[in-house]
Amino acid sequence: MQQSGGCPYDHPPKLQQIFDILINSFIHDKIGIADHFLSDELARKLKINLGTLYQNQLMQYAGTGNHATVTHDKLYRSDQIYWLDKSHNDPNENLFFELMDEFVLYLNSTCYTGITGYEFHYALYDTGSFYKKHVDQFQNDDGRQYSMIMYLNADWQSADGGELCIHQHGETQNISPTQGKSVFFKSSELEHEVLLTNKPRLSITGWLKK
Ligand code: OGA
Ligand code: NI
Repeated sequence: MQQSGGCPYDHPPKLQQIFDILINSFIHDKIGIADHFLSDELARKLKINLGTLYQNQLMQYAGTGNHATVTHDKLYRSDQIYWLDKSHNDPNENLFFELMDEFVLYLNSTCYTGITGYEFHYALYDTGSFYKKHVDQFQNDDGRQYSMIMYLNADWQSADGGELCIHQHGETQNISPTQGKSVFFKSSELEHEVLLTNKPRLSITGWLKK
């Protein structure tokens, strides 16, 4: 018998197995990590969307706080964002929303999380950008339950920087923002930062809400 040979990702694991990896690592470490949460194809398509938004100057410097308290301080965070919206009727965004609907359904049915909504934005950290240490939940609103980030960067090298740095138990853990990877954590708890990036760093970031 001949072996198929080649890359172990010829047959990507089923979506549910990837969901399990994300949820189980979250339960174990408070920071869930799953590679290949986004297929390469979907990641590439969303990256093209982000590039188009950037070229059309639709990405806006992000603030901190919610609508009531928003401030813009580029010494604190220097990423640019654009919100995804079902009303865009963009085929790639719709594929992303379908994936998130499946994930939320699975999360609610396996962990009784009671999530009823979500919000996601594209994020671009241009060369030299960062986001200092913070927690994601607004002080005046506890709607954001879980934070979830999906990375869109093919061929990310350690010299490129831009890691997501998790602060826990007096220690730090650096997670590189490689294409298709998702991270998942509780918005009210986990302190984290985005380290200075030496290359444009692309992602979709969002929150699952009660
Ligand atoms: C955020 C954030 C982390 C990342 O947008 O709140 O912490 O890795 N993002 O992009
Ligand atoms: Ni954050």
